[in-house]
Amino acid sequence: MFRSAFYACFALTALYAIFLGVLTIPFFQNQIIYLNRMTLTWFQDVNVPEQWGFLHNQVTPFHLPTEDGETLHAWHILPLQLYRHHEDELLEEPSGLVPDIKNRLSFRLLRDDPSSLLVLYFHGAAGTLGSGWRPPSYRAISAGAPDRIHTVAIDYRGFGASTGVPSEEGLLKDAVALGKWAMEEAGIPPSRIVLFAQSLGTAVSISLANHMASSPDPILFSGMVLVAPFANVELLTATYRVAGIIPILDPIAKIPRLLTWLNTFILSKWPSKDTLAEFVRRCEGMAGDTLKYHITIIHAEDDYDIPWSHSEQVFWHAVNASSPNGVGYDELERDKEASKVMRGAGGWAVDHRTAKGVIREEIMKHGLHDRIMSYPVVSLAIMTAFGDLDC
Ligand SMILES: *[C@@H]1O[C@H](CO)[C@@H](O)[C@H](O)[C@H]1NC(C)=O
Repeated sequence: MFRSAFYACFALTALYAIFLGVLTIPFFQNQIIYLNRMTLTWFQDVNVPEQWGFLHNQVTPFHLPTEDGETLHAWHILPLQLYRHHEDELLEEPSGLVPDIKNRLSFRLLRDDPSSLLVLYFHGAAGTLGSGWRPPSYRAISAGAPDRIHTVAIDYRGFGASTGVPSEEGLLKDAVALGKWAMEEAGIPPSRIVLFAQSLGTAVSISLANHMASSPDPILFSGMVLVAPFANVELLTATYRVAGIIPILDPIAKIPRLLTWLNTFILSKWPSKDTLAEFVRRCEGMAGDTLKYHITIIHAEDDYDIPWSHSEQVFWHAVNASSPNGVGYDELERDKEASKVMRGAGGWAVDHRTAKGVIREEIMKHGLHDRIMSYPVVSLAIMTAFGDLDC
């Protein structure tokens, strides 16, 4: 009996070792990090947004080209009040994927109204534009100003109906394509644009913000709302739970040297805490006082996919970068204890302000990993991120 127990144990360990070995192969690793083939909306056509509860022609599906030749599938989502005011005309337009979005009323409503606001939406791993809590989150985003806040969301390369294969550089190119489309094609100045992102999307959005701020003629968007961010992929592997349940790397996370060694195989690093710190340093160093940054980090304590300790790390690195001499973690924790706004069962929030910008952390008691995207805390954060333009 002992012998068969021993064999069973040995076989399990061997299987796990093979599984870890497979993870070092780039193709399989990408499947775990991006989960882009886990469509979740199988057998549904992402060109029929009514399936996810939108009104007829409230969403315009269109194609967005990237500079390196990929074609991204995108949705332009009209806010409710604007839809209501133009319902008759919208109903008369054809549905489905549009060959040229510029001919559409929805696009003209965005481009031609000097007070329109635009949210660029970067979703998390797996699924498509229509998966899970994403459709309800589009509705939460425009809730604060349903006559003005438009949303444009993309499926990254390799996701949904977009072409290509995901990679760290590739997803940044996708985000740049969306940012440029918003500014150049739709003609919306960055002061009227907010980035919204969740989970994997937060890494993409942070990269985009830093990329735009580092151009010779720096571009700063009005703000950035990050829901359930992670510090970087290496720190994520130790804590990540697939579907919020299976801690795939838990056994080896207990052997730090083994984890460190395995981490050297990771291709997509997404160093969000460092990239965000770089972004903040860059903004703090900008001359003049017209460009200001605004970062909101939101996380739920009951997030089982990515623990909220990641947000604590991300917030600390951003705050540390905002001061010339830096701020120690413990020192910051003491400051936070003193200045936290407590909201009982609604969690707490803390603001860090400098002359150049605001870094905000909001920890909710409830919201899980995805559901939180549809909560009013997101509606409020979006309104705040638009700053003075807020209605
Ligand atoms: C905090 O900021 C200081 C000063 O810019 C820097 O030297 C230090 O490396 C930063 N700490 C972390 C953990 O990034």
